[in-house]
Amino acid sequence: MKRVFSGIQPTGDLHIGNYLGAMVNYVALGNQLGREAIYCIVDYHAPTNPAAYDKQLLAQRTLEAALVNMAAGLDPDKVILFAQSHVPEHTELAWIFTTQTPYGDLTRMTQFKDKASKLESVPAGLLMYPVLMAADILIYKADTVPVGDDQTQHLEIAREIARRWNLEYGETFPEPQTYLNQDAPRVPGVDGKAKMSKSVGNTIGLLEDEASIWAKIRTMPDDPARIRLSDPGDPGRSVVFKFLSYFAAPELVAVLRQEYARRGVGTLVVKELLMQEMMKKLRPIRQRADALRANPERVLDALEDGARRARAIAKATMEEVREKFGLLPRHTKSKA
Ligand code: TYM
Repeated sequence: MKRVFSGIQPTGDLHIGNYLGAMVNYVALGNQLGREAIYCIVDYHAPTNPAAYDKQLLAQRTLEAALVNMAAGLDPDKVILFAQSHVPEHTELAWIFTTQTPYGDLTRMTQFKDKASKLESVPAGLLMYPVLMAADILIYKADTVPVGDDQTQHLEIAREIARRWNLEYGETFPEPQTYLNQDAPRVPGVDGKAKMSKSVGNTIGLLEDEASIWAKIRTMPDDPARIRLSDPGDPGRSVVFKFLSYFAAPELVAVLRQEYARRGVGTLVVKELLMQEMMKKLRPIRQRADALRANPERVLDALEDGARRARAIAKATMEEVREKFGLLPRHTKSKA
């Protein structure tokens, strides 16, 4: 059976970059027959970034991340949804992989270099991050990994780890493939420059209130081709149009592009339409999130059930891995 796996960090409010780049595909792949889909709130990854980790908030954010994913359409009856720390085999496998992964492969990771350069003291966990990620995926022998394109380098390492293991210890793991949302592999921030990211502060939260979202859309930069109001715009260079293409029907976008390019409509009209179309998607998510918040047991039950099902798979893989790796099997005293 084909198996899908992905992880998402509980580092505060999930944003539309997470949603479009990854969560939309979690739902789509979770609904496909003939695939088993496993999604994990990766609470052990979060503390590798000291700027985003807060021990008072970690548990609450883990629950919240699960809740928002369910509100966005993940159905725990169809997929396995759980918290990483509830399946301790992930970290066990990560240690074994750590012993087999060249240090140099990890120090050349772009995300590591970026994040480490901003820190005075770099936790070793930040360097090992992609190894834990490989363990997350490979412990389920998953072959398909829906993510945004910022994770492609980490997926390369995961494939490398699988390949090296299979050569040394015998065929065990598939080489997991990156599964991108071709329409939104890398969602830009509202500043129109950097990738949308919590650490840059250029996000639109999935559950952000409407007034606050409108304030961000209203002040989005105009396209650089339109300096004076009378200049014809270039929709291809406009971040407003980029966002519109994520949320509006292609026919509407096509008409607006034409009108905009010949100065038939101004940016404000396009922004108002963007707001309208975006809210058609986000409002139902917020309503489902409110309903779940009134009944958090549903989320806790889903996580408990998810961890139980995930753990059964993870345990079986670890038995195989321990044996192939040459560890002394656990001895059980004979009772006779
Ligand atoms: P995280 O928590 O940073 O992000 C969750 C998912 O959202 C995607 N994403 C984006 N996609 C498009 N445009 C954006 N602006 C954008 N911002 C975020 C991310 O690519 C990701 O898919 N390392 C992972 C978590 C992880 C994981 C795993 C993923 C841990 N173990 C195993 C897959 C498999 C991360 O930090 O994602």
